[in-house]
Amino acid sequence: MIGIIGAMEEEVSQLIEAMEEKEKVTCAGMDFYCGKLKDKEVVIVQSGIGKVNMALCTQILADRFDVKAVINTGVAGGLYKDIEIGDIVISKDAVQHDVDATVFGYKVGEIPRMDTSYFEADKDLIELAKKTCDEVNPDIHSYVGRVVSGDQFISDNKKKHYLINEFDGYCAEMEGAAMAQAAHLNQIPFIILRAISDKADQEAAGSYEEFEKAAIKHIVRLVLGILDRM
Ligand code: ADE
Repeated sequence: MIGIIGAMEEEVSQLIEAMEEKEKVTCAGMDFYCGKLKDKEVVIVQSGIGKVNMALCTQILADRFDVKAVINTGVAGGLYKDIEIGDIVISKDAVQHDVDATVFGYKVGEIPRMDTSYFEADKDLIELAKKTCDEVNPDIHSYVGRVVSGDQFISDNKKKHYLINEFDGYCAEMEGAAMAQAAHLNQIPFIILRAISDKADQEAAGSYEEFEKAAIKHIVRLVLGILDRM
Protein backbone atom coordinates (compact mmCIF):
# COMPACT_ATOMS: atom_id res chain seq x y z
CA MET A 1 0.00 0.00 0.00
CA ILE A 2 1.29 3.44 -0.95
CA GLY A 3 0.15 6.49 1.01
CA ILE A 4 -0.56 9.68 -0.93
CA ILE A 5 -1.14 12.86 1.07
CA GLY A 6 -2.22 16.31 0.00
CA ALA A 7 -2.91 19.13 2.44
CA MET A 8 -5.85 20.63 0.56
CA GLU A 9 -8.90 19.19 -1.13
CA GLU A 10 -7.87 20.49 -4.55
CA GLU A 11 -4.53 18.68 -4.21
CA VAL A 12 -6.12 15.23 -3.81
CA SER A 13 -9.64 15.37 -5.30
CA GLN A 14 -8.67 14.41 -8.85
CA LEU A 15 -6.65 11.45 -7.58
CA ILE A 16 -9.49 10.27 -5.32
CA GLU A 17 -11.96 10.57 -8.23
CA ALA A 18 -9.71 8.40 -10.40
CA MET A 19 -9.54 5.59 -7.81
CA GLU A 20 -11.25 2.21 -8.19
CA GLU A 21 -12.67 -0.10 -5.50
CA LYS A 22 -12.68 2.88 -3.16
CA GLU A 23 -13.46 2.58 0.56
CA LYS A 24 -13.43 5.41 3.11
CA VAL A 25 -12.04 5.19 6.64
CA THR A 26 -12.19 8.27 8.88
CA CYS A 27 -9.62 8.89 11.60
CA ALA A 28 -8.71 12.11 13.45
CA GLY A 29 -11.22 13.90 11.25
CA MET A 30 -9.33 12.87 8.10
CA ASP A 31 -10.89 10.73 5.37
CA PHE A 32 -8.56 7.97 4.19
CA TYR A 33 -9.61 6.54 0.78
CA CYS A 34 -8.27 3.04 0.23
CA GLY A 35 -8.43 1.42 -3.19
CA LYS A 36 -6.63 1.12 -6.48
CA LEU A 37 -5.09 3.75 -8.68
CA LYS A 38 -3.27 2.71 -11.84
CA ASP A 39 -3.67 -0.85 -10.55
CA LYS A 40 -1.63 -0.09 -7.40
CA GLU A 41 -2.97 -0.37 -3.86
CA VAL A 42 -3.12 3.15 -2.50
CA VAL A 43 -4.55 5.14 0.37
CA ILE A 44 -5.18 8.80 -0.42
CA VAL A 45 -5.91 11.39 2.24
CA GLN A 46 -6.34 15.13 2.71
CA SER A 47 -4.30 15.96 5.81
CA GLY A 48 -5.26 19.59 6.25
CA ILE A 49 -2.79 22.46 6.19
CA GLY A 50 0.37 22.72 8.27
CA LYS A 51 2.98 20.54 9.92
CA VAL A 52 0.93 19.18 12.81
CA ASN A 53 -1.85 17.92 10.54
CA MET A 54 0.69 16.35 8.24
CA ALA A 55 2.66 14.63 11.01
CA LEU A 56 -0.53 13.16 12.49
CA CYS A 57 -1.72 12.00 9.11
CA THR A 58 1.58 10.29 8.29
CA GLN A 59 1.61 8.51 11.63
CA ILE A 60 -1.92 7.20 11.00
CA LEU A 61 -0.80 5.93 7.60
CA ALA A 62 2.08 4.11 9.30
CA ASP A 63 0.03 2.66 12.16
CA ARG A 64 -3.28 1.79 10.53
CA PHE A 65 -2.49 1.30 6.86
CA ASP A 66 1.00 -0.16 7.02
CA VAL A 67 2.14 1.90 4.04
CA LYS A 68 5.40 0.91 2.35
CA ALA A 69 6.01 4.44 1.02
CA VAL A 70 4.48 7.89 1.39
CA ILE A 71 4.12 10.58 -1.27
CA ASN A 72 3.25 14.19 -0.48
CA THR A 73 1.70 15.95 -3.45
CA GLY A 74 0.69 19.58 -3.83
CA VAL A 75 1.76 23.11 -4.66
CA ALA A 76 4.53 25.31 -3.29
CA GLY A 77 6.15 28.71 -3.54
CA GLY A 78 9.20 28.73 -5.81
CA LEU A 79 12.56 29.70 -4.31
CA TYR A 80 15.22 28.41 -6.72
CA LYS A 81 16.41 31.20 -9.00
CA ASP A 82 15.50 29.62 -12.34
CA ILE A 83 12.21 28.08 -11.25
CA GLU A 84 8.99 29.19 -12.96
CA ILE A 85 5.34 28.87 -12.05
CA GLY A 86 4.12 25.44 -13.17
CA ASP A 87 7.56 23.82 -12.76
CA ILE A 88 8.00 20.94 -10.31
CA VAL A 89 10.29 20.33 -7.34
CA ILE A 90 11.09 16.72 -6.43
CA SER A 91 12.47 16.53 -2.89
CA LYS A 92 16.13 15.67 -2.43
CA ASP A 93 15.49 16.22 1.25
CA ALA A 94 13.31 18.38 3.50
CA VAL A 95 13.87 20.65 6.50
CA GLN A 96 11.64 22.71 8.80
CA HIS A 97 12.75 26.31 8.40
CA ASP A 98 10.76 27.51 11.43
CA VAL A 99 12.61 25.40 14.00
CA ASP A 100 14.77 27.75 16.06
CA ALA A 101 16.79 26.62 19.06
CA THR A 102 19.75 28.84 18.11
CA VAL A 103 19.94 30.16 21.67
CA PHE A 104 21.34 26.73 22.63
CA GLY A 105 23.91 26.74 19.84
CA TYR A 106 21.89 24.80 17.27
CA LYS A 107 21.70 26.01 13.69
CA VAL A 108 18.33 27.33 12.58
CA GLY A 109 16.27 24.40 11.27
CA GLU A 110 18.06 21.94 13.57
CA ILE A 111 15.75 19.96 15.82
CA PRO A 112 17.46 19.61 19.20
CA ARG A 113 18.52 16.09 20.15
CA MET A 114 17.54 14.44 16.88
CA ASP A 115 19.93 12.43 14.71
CA THR A 116 19.10 14.59 11.69
CA SER A 117 16.96 17.56 10.72
CA TYR A 118 17.47 17.22 6.95
CA PHE A 119 15.32 14.21 6.11
CA GLU A 120 16.44 12.50 2.91
CA ALA A 121 13.92 11.34 0.33
CA ASP A 122 14.12 7.83 -1.07
CA LYS A 123 16.71 7.67 -3.88
CA ASP A 124 14.73 5.24 -6.07
CA LEU A 125 11.61 7.39 -5.79
CA ILE A 126 13.62 10.51 -6.70
CA GLU A 127 14.99 8.81 -9.80
CA LEU A 128 11.58 7.47 -10.80
CA ALA A 129 9.93 10.86 -10.23
CA LYS A 130 12.53 12.75 -12.27
CA LYS A 131 12.36 10.33 -15.20
CA THR A 132 8.55 10.23 -15.09
CA CYS A 133 8.24 14.02 -14.89
CA ASP A 134 10.36 14.51 -18.00
CA GLU A 135 8.07 12.07 -19.82
CA VAL A 136 4.63 13.22 -18.65
CA ASN A 137 5.32 16.96 -18.32
CA PRO A 138 7.70 17.68 -21.21
CA ASP A 139 6.76 21.37 -21.35
CA ILE A 140 7.99 22.28 -17.88
CA HIS A 141 11.21 21.93 -15.89
CA SER A 142 11.57 19.70 -12.88
CA TYR A 143 14.25 20.12 -10.24
CA VAL A 144 15.54 17.77 -7.56
CA GLY A 145 16.18 19.99 -4.55
CA ARG A 146 15.50 20.84 -0.97
CA VAL A 147 11.93 21.40 0.25
CA VAL A 148 11.68 23.85 3.16
CA SER A 149 8.55 23.68 5.29
CA GLY A 150 7.11 25.86 8.01
CA ASP A 151 3.78 26.94 9.40
CA GLN A 152 3.95 30.12 7.33
CA PHE A 153 2.77 31.13 3.86
CA ILE A 154 5.83 32.87 2.39
CA SER A 155 4.90 36.07 0.59
CA ASP A 156 7.85 38.34 1.20
CA ASN A 157 11.08 38.79 -0.77
CA LYS A 158 13.24 39.17 2.33
CA LYS A 159 11.98 35.92 3.84
CA LYS A 160 12.26 34.21 0.47
CA HIS A 161 15.95 35.13 0.16
CA TYR A 162 16.57 34.11 3.74
CA LEU A 163 15.20 30.64 2.90
CA ILE A 164 17.43 30.46 -0.19
CA ASN A 165 20.58 31.68 1.57
CA GLU A 166 20.14 29.85 4.87
CA PHE A 167 18.75 26.53 3.59
CA ASP A 168 19.38 26.37 -0.17
CA GLY A 169 15.63 25.83 -0.50
CA TYR A 170 14.12 25.07 -3.92
CA CYS A 171 10.52 25.55 -2.79
CA ALA A 172 8.63 26.57 0.33
CA GLU A 173 5.47 24.94 1.58
CA MET A 174 3.82 24.04 4.87
CA GLU A 175 3.85 20.25 5.30
CA GLY A 176 6.51 18.26 3.44
CA ALA A 177 9.22 18.19 6.10
CA ALA A 178 6.69 17.12 8.74
CA MET A 179 5.79 14.10 6.62
CA ALA A 180 9.50 13.53 6.08
CA GLN A 181 10.22 13.55 9.81
CA ALA A 182 7.34 11.17 10.57
CA ALA A 183 8.43 8.90 7.72
CA HIS A 184 12.02 8.94 9.01
CA LEU A 185 10.92 7.99 12.52
CA ASN A 186 8.85 5.12 11.12
CA GLN A 187 11.53 4.10 8.60
CA ILE A 188 9.20 4.57 5.64
CA PRO A 189 10.58 5.76 2.28
CA PHE A 190 9.11 9.07 1.16
CA ILE A 191 9.05 11.66 -1.58
CA ILE A 192 7.61 15.18 -1.77
CA LEU A 193 6.34 16.38 -5.15
CA ARG A 194 5.37 20.04 -5.45
CA ALA A 195 4.33 22.15 -8.42
CA ILE A 196 5.08 25.86 -8.22
CA SER A 197 1.97 28.03 -7.81
CA ASP A 198 3.75 31.29 -6.89
CA LYS A 199 7.21 32.67 -6.27
CA ALA A 200 6.92 33.20 -2.51
CA ASP A 201 7.24 36.97 -3.00
CA GLN A 202 4.94 39.98 -2.55
CA GLU A 203 2.72 38.73 -5.41
CA ALA A 204 2.46 35.22 -3.96
CA ALA A 205 -1.12 35.36 -2.68
CA GLY A 206 -2.57 36.60 -5.99
CA SER A 207 -0.36 34.35 -8.07
CA TYR A 208 -1.27 31.36 -5.94
CA GLU A 209 -5.00 31.94 -6.60
CA GLU A 210 -4.39 32.35 -10.32
CA PHE A 211 -1.98 29.49 -10.98
CA GLU A 212 -2.87 26.84 -8.39
CA LYS A 213 -5.15 24.89 -10.79
CA ALA A 214 -2.57 24.73 -13.58
CA ALA A 215 0.15 23.67 -11.13
CA ILE A 216 -2.06 20.91 -9.76
CA LYS A 217 -2.63 19.58 -13.29
CA HIS A 218 1.13 18.98 -13.61
CA ILE A 219 1.47 17.33 -10.24
CA VAL A 220 -1.54 15.02 -10.79
CA ARG A 221 0.01 13.91 -14.08
CA LEU A 222 3.26 13.20 -12.27
CA VAL A 223 1.67 11.17 -9.45
CA LEU A 224 -0.34 9.07 -11.93
CA GLY A 225 2.77 8.59 -14.07
CA ILE A 226 4.82 7.41 -11.09
CA LEU A 227 2.15 4.88 -10.03
CA ASP A 228 1.98 3.64 -13.62
CA ARG A 229 5.72 2.96 -13.61
CA MET A 230 6.02 1.40 -10.16
N1 ADE B 1 2.16 26.83 -0.82
C1 ADE B 1 2.06 27.42 -2.03
N2 ADE B 1 2.73 28.58 -2.04
C2 ADE B 1 3.28 28.73 -0.82
C3 ADE B 1 4.05 29.74 -0.21
N3 ADE B 1 4.41 30.83 -0.88
N4 ADE B 1 4.43 29.57 1.08
C4 ADE B 1 4.05 28.48 1.77
N5 ADE B 1 3.30 27.50 1.25
C5 ADE B 1 2.91 27.62 -0.03
